[in-house]
Formats: sequence, C-alpha cells, structure tokens
Amino acid sequence: MQELLNRHISVDYIRNISERIGHAFVGTGEATGIGHAHGKAILIGEHTVVHGAPAIAIPLPAMPVRAVARPYLPDTDSDVTSDKSFGFVAGLADTKFSPSGPRVAVEEALRQWGLGAHPVRITVDCDIPFARGLGSSAAITSAAVRAVADLYGRRLDTAALYDFVQCGEQIAHGRASGVDARAVLATGPIWFYQGAARAVTTELDAALVIADTGMPGVTERAVTGVSRLADRDPVFIQRLVDHASGLVHVAANDLAAGDAESLGHTMSDFQRILVSLGVSTPSIDLLVSTALGAGAFGAKLTGAGMGGCVVALTSTATAGAVSRALRRVDALRTWTVDTRGRHLSTWPASTLGHGGRQ
Ligand code: MEV
Repeated sequence: MQELLNRHISVDYIRNISERIGHAFVGTGEATGIGHAHGKAILIGEHTVVHGAPAIAIPLPAMPVRAVARPYLPDTDSDVTSDKSFGFVAGLADTKFSPSGPRVAVEEALRQWGLGAHPVRITVDCDIPFARGLGSSAAITSAAVRAVADLYGRRLDTAALYDFVQCGEQIAHGRASGVDARAVLATGPIWFYQGAARAVTTELDAALVIADTGMPGVTERAVTGVSRLADRDPVFIQRLVDHASGLVHVAANDLAAGDAESLGHTMSDFQRILVSLGVSTPSIDLLVSTALGAGAFGAKLTGAGMGGCVVALTSTATAGAVSRALRRVDALRTWTVDTRGRHLSTWPASTLGHGGRQ
C-alpha cells in the first residue's frame, strides 16, 4: 500500500491537492516552484527604443537569476537578505511594502490565475548586479512569475509572461519599451521593435567588455528625463530617433556581415546620441574614451545610463588589454563575453554579484 502511495503521489498531485485545500499542508516546505532568467546588455538602441526606434540586445546567461516561490506562511517565513539574495511577499491585501516591479507582476499573475487569495513568498538569488543597466529588474520579475506558475502548475506562454513582466517594468522604468523583458529570456542576440523580438543573425567573431562605473543607474529617472525632453522638443527627439533607427539597422548589417570595425563605429556614433539625450556621465565618458584608447572598435553606455555600465566591442585578442585599461581608470569590475553573450572572463574572478559604490 505504502509503495503504491509513493508511486502515485507526484508533484502534480501534491499541487493539485494543495490548491483545492488552500495549501493547508504545504507549510512542510515541499511545495515550491522554481523560475529562471538572466541578465542582458543592450548593444545599441536604449532610450530611443522607448520612442519608437528598434534596438539590439544580447542575453547574458553568465548572470543568472533563480527564484523560488512558496505559499506564504505568516509566522514561519523569514528572509535571509544578502547582497545577492532577498525575498519578498506578493498577494497580501494589506501590505506595508511599497509596490515593486516584481511584486506587481506576480500579483497580476495571481489575480489572472484566480489565485488572488493565495499570497506567495518569493526568494531570489540574483547574479546580476542591481541598478547597473544589466536587466536585474526584468530578470527578477521574469524568474518570479515563472516560479509562481511552476508552483501552481499554471501554463505560461511567452506572450503571457511578457505581459506580466511589462506590468512590473512599467513600475521600474516609468515607461518600459519591453526590450529588457524580451532580452532576459532570450537565448541569443535579439532585434527588438515595438514589443516584438526576433533572433539576429551574427557572424561576428569579437568580444564585448562590459565595465561597471560603480555608480548605480536610476532607470526611471533617466527614462523620465528623456521623455520630458521629448515633450519639450519633439522635433529634436524625432530627429535623434530617426538617426538612431538608421544606426540600429547599420548595426544589424554589421553583425550579419561580421564587420566588427564598422559595428564599433556604429556603437560609438550611438553613444553621441545618448550624450545628446543627457544620460551619459563623466564616469561613463571616461570609460568610453579609455576603451577606445586601448584599442576597442567602439564603446557606449549600456542600459539607461546616468551610472551603470559601459560596453566596448573589441577583438578577442585585445579584450584583456581593454579590460585592464578600464580597471586602471577605476572601473569597479569588468565582464568579457562573446557576441552571443557567453561568458569569457570576469574581473575580479569572483565578480558576479553586487556591492559597489553607492
Ligand atoms: C533600459 O535597459 C533600456 C531603456 O531603453 C528603457 C526601456 O527600453 O524600457 C533605457
């Protein structure tokens, strides 16, 4: 009899029962759901993508996020918070916490799945540094929604996940184009335009050196600043958006043709647009000029700017020299990946994670 029971009590069965009896027994800790996502770097097109131009982004699988969802138990749950792990609760009607992107997205998912009365605790383990333009908010939100879907056995297709993540991203960015939500789940470089993503062909044999200024970027402030500029001077912004759109098309051709030199120039041209939009900073400008001086084909900020990271395109042979030059002028850390986002090296060696100057 016991053997029969063991054989038939599957995870699905436990989930099914737990849903019907309102999780009365799942405090044993057995009922968990797991979700994954990863970081991203925007190769070209940040900010102007919010105003209608395309963008190209690459996934960073070397920066994974893992979320675990459990039914919320008021008296037994506690968070262990470190510089890369934290927890949050979603679905409590009466909460003292202010809305965060991941919580808003999970609550929308619970509501749409008819689970509004089932609060969950999400524990997140994140190897993406926070507030550095590398997609931490979209990746945490994606992993958290996936974990809740897994916990309750809900079907979650790409379109539904994108919509939930965008609910959260509107909180994090103020106005989110959706490029982050697509890139943190992508398996290769993507072309993003007006909500939709497709794979980009790349024949490029080169490296990307990503360098951290050590200053947190504030996506919402940067995006709002550009939107205000657009309201004040729509003609100026439209001119930049048209120019940006042309550059992103050139970059896609460069990737397809494997032309690193041309792509580098295109990225540097795009940095000039970002400077005109007011989202570069002296630290970013210093890292960009240092990368170029050390032999990079091109360099620009990546993400929202106003802090955060710079991305430099280099040959695989010069990546080490560019990374060392960036460290000499005070980059807090560097990551070197190939043009599909696969990890080549990091500095310091244990650099995944958080911290940095605030
Ligand atoms: C942030 O990674 C990219 C921005 O273009 C904002 C967005 O597209 O939502 C600055």
